[in-house]
Amino acid sequence: MNIQEANQYLTPNYARFPITLTQGVGSRVQDDTGQSYLDFVAGIAVNTLGHAHPAMVKTIHEQATTMLHCSNLYYNPQQNKLAKKLVELSTLDKVFFCNSGAEANETAIKLARKYFHDQGVNKFSIITATQSFHGRTMQTIAATGQDKVKVGFTPLPQGFKHVPLNDIAALENAIDDSTAAIMLEPLQGEGGVHLANIEYLEAVRTLCDNKGILLIFDEIQTGIGRCGTMFAFEKVGIKPDILTLAKGLGGGVPIGAMLASEKVGVSLSAGSHGTTFGGNPMSCAVALTVLSVMEKEDILNNVQARSTQFQIGLQKLVDTYTVFEEVRGDGLLLGIKASIDVAPIVNQCMKNGLLILMAGPQVLRFLPALNITEEEIEEGLSLLSQSIEGLNL
Ligand SMILES: Cc1ncc(COP(=O)(O)O)c(C=O)c1O
Repeated sequence: MNIQEANQYLTPNYARFPITLTQGVGSRVQDDTGQSYLDFVAGIAVNTLGHAHPAMVKTIHEQATTMLHCSNLYYNPQQNKLAKKLVELSTLDKVFFCNSGAEANETAIKLARKYFHDQGVNKFSIITATQSFHGRTMQTIAATGQDKVKVGFTPLPQGFKHVPLNDIAALENAIDDSTAAIMLEPLQGEGGVHLANIEYLEAVRTLCDNKGILLIFDEIQTGIGRCGTMFAFEKVGIKPDILTLAKGLGGGVPIGAMLASEKVGVSLSAGSHGTTFGGNPMSCAVALTVLSVMEKEDILNNVQARSTQFQIGLQKLVDTYTVFEEVRGDGLLLGIKASIDVAPIVNQCMKNGLLILMAGPQVLRFLPALNITEEEIEEGLSLLSQSIEGLNL
């Protein structure tokens, strides 16, 4: 089926590139014409171990022949093991499994409200950052600090306020008696690759402690090694009360998770929340394999080394072309801020066999698989330079 035919059947909500991807191995993907691409998108930070990692293929095969789904009416060993592993890694205490990032954030918002409800306290509002992105459900577009995601969907759920990132005074001013939680991405991905600075996050934690407010970290894009530590919050040395994960956790299999401290997590009491597919044996088995391969293949060290290498290469581009202003980001969630619309660069890269993406109209964003090699980073940088040269910027 060609793209025109496909558009007859699909809702037009995605502004897709005009290629059809059919297969991939490692950091290379192929389209239906046989053209090969170096993949610096990784399914938007999902393909942690690249495409068709043998360990994941093995797990998927084994689990498919054992059990795909059994409902949360019962326990399943894969869900139990994954919950234990995530608790050990995060040092939080309780885990709820779902299927996507938006659902994990939806759960976090519900839990923050339920926690105060259970104590008979009337706190319900959530403060998030401008330029944040938290998902596409009604609650999570209300939480998102970007107007463009809200157009056409009013009336929106109430109880959300937005303040500029890295401005502690603005946050303090926004807090009132109704504030239940502050929800932040340690590094904003979709909103333009903006890093929350360490002093700010430390101050936010202190503010939350002093005022009895919950701190939620949305690590849907930054979690599972993307920033060179298993979770971005580890770099700051503070811990959120609630943490949300999705994307890289399943390495390509849909799974989301919300983690919470003991005292908060227990408020998600029996019957208060749930989802049919959440924590199914297949997704959990694959996520366990992703985490185990990350340990065996020393992926976090690779992220740190490749990040340094990549940033040096990107900085050279910034030094060479006046249209590029700065390199942004952390680990393998990197961007270049430009003074021009970067869509032509993304399109030219695609023509030259490199997939990259944008974070807003003026930011190039790069999210390669976490096991990307030194040679592949060099190749990507060279394809990127070649594409920019071809545009005569
Ligand atoms: C930080 C963050 N939160 C939430 C989401 C929503 O995740 P999903 O698309 O899986 O619903 C995303 C997706 O890009 C994200 O980057």
